[in-house]
Amino acid sequence: MYRTHNCGELRLSHVGQEITLAGWVQRIRKMGGMVFIDLRDRYGITQLVFNQEINSDLWEKANKLSREYVVQVTGKVSERSNKNPNLSTGDIEILVSKLTVLNESKIPPFTIEDATDGGDDLRMKYRYLDLRRNVVRKNLELRHQMTIETRQYLDNLGFLEVETPVLIASTPEGARDFVVPSRMNPGEFYALPQSPQLFKQLLMVGGFDRYFQIVKCFRDEDLRADRQPEFTQIDCEMSFVEQEDVLQTFEGLVKHLFKTIKNIDFTEPFPRMQWSEAMKRFGSDKPDIRFGMEFVELKEIVTGYNFSVFDNAEYVGGICAPACASYTRKQIDELTEFVKRPQIGAKGLIYIRYENDGSFKSSIDKFFSADDLKKISTLFSANAGDLILIMAGNKLKTQKALCELRLEMGGRLGLRKKDEFAPLWVVDFPLFEWNEELNRYQAMHHPFTSPKPEDIPLLDTKPGDVRANAYDMVVNGVELGGGSIRIHNSSLQNKMFELLGFTPEKAQSQFGFLMNAFQYGAPPHGGLAFGLDRFVSLLAGLDSIRDCIAFPKNNAGRDVMINAPSPLDPSQLEELHLTIKL
Ligand code: AMO
Repeated sequence: MYRTHNCGELRLSHVGQEITLAGWVQRIRKMGGMVFIDLRDRYGITQLVFNQEINSDLWEKANKLSREYVVQVTGKVSERSNKNPNLSTGDIEILVSKLTVLNESKIPPFTIEDATDGGDDLRMKYRYLDLRRNVVRKNLELRHQMTIETRQYLDNLGFLEVETPVLIASTPEGARDFVVPSRMNPGEFYALPQSPQLFKQLLMVGGFDRYFQIVKCFRDEDLRADRQPEFTQIDCEMSFVEQEDVLQTFEGLVKHLFKTIKNIDFTEPFPRMQWSEAMKRFGSDKPDIRFGMEFVELKEIVTGYNFSVFDNAEYVGGICAPACASYTRKQIDELTEFVKRPQIGAKGLIYIRYENDGSFKSSIDKFFSADDLKKISTLFSANAGDLILIMAGNKLKTQKALCELRLEMGGRLGLRKKDEFAPLWVVDFPLFEWNEELNRYQAMHHPFTSPKPEDIPLLDTKPGDVRANAYDMVVNGVELGGGSIRIHNSSLQNKMFELLGFTPEKAQSQFGFLMNAFQYGAPPHGGLAFGLDRFVSLLAGLDSIRDCIAFPKNNAGRDVMINAPSPLDPSQLEELHLTIKL
């Protein structure tokens, strides 16, 4: 037996027992004739003591140990005179009588402590060392608990976990596919699933009326803090349901996870907001409703003052930052630079300071009198001491920029607390969105999302106004999940393909199997998928989903530890009938 106990387990009640532990040397302290070693494993840290006076051979051996050596020790549990309240085992120590070095270690390239000196790249290159750190391990433990709780919750409701294939043909989730060449079928490629969307719908046709899967999905898209090229979904689908059934079922799952993982009770139903309202009030389809600072639309009020920025704008709107009138010129310039960054792309920022003495100072004093500014401030319900920030321009772009500014100000004012959670269903998304580049409509969610029955007549006349039976689960401004009630009728599905610019031949070649399946009694069905990585990182309070993934990719989509992607051997290329053109 390598060990009788683990390194997080021993307490005062064990004093006097002879035990054996195995683990890694975390820290060595040498004090005269004594050597103290912190021994670490997954469960904690235990202090080992080597006393020269009691056993000088052993003391000498301990002196030669170094960080990250793997050792096995046997010894007696003893009460510590100098207790460490920060350690679960801090009341005891082990008076070692036997020491075996199981393996040596090179000096690690960074310290394996909670606050490490290793930069991101270094930690990723040596991820197996990084995984030894408490903070990283805790995130993976949380992830494990969340998947166990999810499986339990869904199993209790009769959901079956069914695996779907990874080597498939293209799925239309809106990103680029990762593709895999087929050796047996020269010149042909598999695509990796962006989600199991089509298979879960086929499972519904197959009669599996409650399906889920915790499943890897692959998307070749630009990476951000909340996006990885391979990520995990809690993917779900149900038959014989309406939108309300799906929302209730999965609101239950979200509440169950908050309760079991964070001990947070949400006793009230989650609020719901229509997409159009979310855009109007927050400029986002995933509003962070932990704080206010909602948009105020000003176009009508501020037009006609000879201020061309407002007169020529499609949209003028602003937010009121409480108690920020004291912002200096420099701070306001900083905010202006912030909104002008290429990622946000605003042209400028207008401010109105509502001074504590009741007067107004603004960057539009030339065009607006104090009375006009007072009128504007009333629309914001502003108080003396507040700062009003206004932007103008194209409606969608300006709303998006104002949304970024609102989030920035929320952050600066400490209103986005990590231990406060504000869930929200965003519902009634538009079915289509206009694609400027392609000059045509595209599916906002995916082409299998059903329109609201009452909006079907608008499909031919005003497709942009058609609302979908689609919904997103948003928490703290993060899109945790989304889904829809699907089309289950082949003539409506064909109509969708037509509106999305598919020729009948192209629709048949890409989705023929689904259309065929729909001719054999497809039940009404719908579902959704949560992003597991996003869910875990939200509950763990992380800034990036990378920190809850054991072996993540970096922002260039690379795994720097195994060096992937990498070039293929010429013989492999030959076998796959591929030539590389760079
Ligand atoms: P959707 O594309 O909205 O829907 O994806 C569902 C959820 O998956 C997460 N997610 C991601 N997480 C990390 N990295 C990524 N690159 C990434 N992309 C998406 C998000 C998102 O809300 N088939 C549909 C679901 C359905 O209709 O049932 C789908 O995949 O949290």
